[in-house]
Amino acid sequence: MVNALVVGHGAREHVIGEALVNGGAELFAFMSFKNAGLDRLSKNRINIQSETDFKEMIEFCKVNQIDFVVVGPETPLCVGIVDALESNGFPCVGPRIEPAQIEGSKIFMRNLLEKYKIRSNVKGRSFSSMKGVEEFIDEIGEKNLVVKPDGLTGGKGVKVYGDHLFSKKDMMNYCQELINNRKQFILEEKMVGEEFTLQTFVDGKIVKGSPLVQDHKRAYEGDEGPNTGGMGSYSMANHLLPFINKEVVEDALEDMKNVVAAIKAETGMKYKGFLYGQFMRTSQGIKLIEFNARLGDPEAMNILPILKTNFVDICWAILEGNLDEIDIQFEKKATVCKYLAPEGYPLSPKSDQKILIDQQRLEQLGTKYYYASVYKEKGEIFTTTSRAMGVLGVANSLKEAERIAESGVSCIKGNLFHRKDVGTPELLQKRIDHMNSLLNG
Ligand code: AMP
Ligand code: GLY
Repeated sequence: MVNALVVGHGAREHVIGEALVNGGAELFAFMSFKNAGLDRLSKNRINIQSETDFKEMIEFCKVNQIDFVVVGPETPLCVGIVDALESNGFPCVGPRIEPAQIEGSKIFMRNLLEKYKIRSNVKGRSFSSMKGVEEFIDEIGEKNLVVKPDGLTGGKGVKVYGDHLFSKKDMMNYCQELINNRKQFILEEKMVGEEFTLQTFVDGKIVKGSPLVQDHKRAYEGDEGPNTGGMGSYSMANHLLPFINKEVVEDALEDMKNVVAAIKAETGMKYKGFLYGQFMRTSQGIKLIEFNARLGDPEAMNILPILKTNFVDICWAILEGNLDEIDIQFEKKATVCKYLAPEGYPLSPKSDQKILIDQQRLEQLGTKYYYASVYKEKGEIFTTTSRAMGVLGVANSLKEAERIAESGVSCIKGNLFHRKDVGTPELLQKRIDHMNSLLNG
């Protein structure tokens, strides 16, 4: 029997926990607040503590004779959870602190991609004061730029000209705000295209891919509103996207392999765990938007439930460095995930609102559901300030998966909203037309 610990409290960790249990593991969970799904899957073998309380975590691992740990979120990875646990004898599916900077620092990431000549890199410049900012904006033109704070921002710090910034003054003001808050930032070339997520399993050397997913970062329908952690995502039965063919995926995978090798060359340390690549297909080829040192949230929900290979075996292969010996397979199914978020999210989310979940009806409909940032008190579920519940439809076609997800949403009541357009034929067509116009225009 394998004792596996999952770290993290959200829907991504809930689905990781489910995959571990399906793979035959005895589950334990360490989280900053009680995820009702993980509480059930782990038969209440949980510890509610800060996810960066490594001392407490090591004790929990010792007491429960944990065989390995799967780390869900980026914050503990970027401050050294893997170093702390592994030096106490607990192997972790996740990178050590230095390799994790591929997500922790956008400046580290861009410098690495430039130094090792990774093809999908996007040009930019980093700043730690306002010196030279105005000159750089004038040189490139504000309309062609994006501002990215260094460090972790939960997907909400990036501001794009035309979406969030509408003049040079706006851009300068945002840069100044970051400097006032002691944040370094990058001014990076603005790309135009369609985004896709490629999540991979990495054992230090071998990099294996999974079905492509498209996330929806913007808060409101029609891709309007502020950026969020992700409002929903879909994947297709053929594991591609209608505007991304196999050759494009191979290019993206090739760059990810080169980045894993570059991390080793630069830091002297192997990258192991999950590596998430957010790419954009543009008229000039694919461009790397960001790397994450973990699975995506919501994107983990699009791939783990259709995994045919035992997830526990994959974790062992990552840890033992023999991913080449394992054939990772996924069902040929489409998936649609919709996130329910508290009213006002992400700018002024209403927390501590009661949510009612008709679990029986969800099960009858065949809709899967994952608890995100909600907490349970006296048997009832309440919102926090972040995304509340992930609802997932899995089917042979995207249309059917979307229908299953949408009917599942109607079983969850509360002061919540979601994007009805995620995974719909209309939105998909819009993406296809956009890509075609860029490629042919
Ligand atoms: P990130 O946190 O780096 O993923 O950025 C959040 C979102 O901002 C991305 O999903 C993109 O939609 C957008 N974005 C980031 N970088 C760029 C870029 N260089 N050009 C255009 N859009 C970008
Ligand atoms: N869905 C974007 C992320 O996980 O960062």
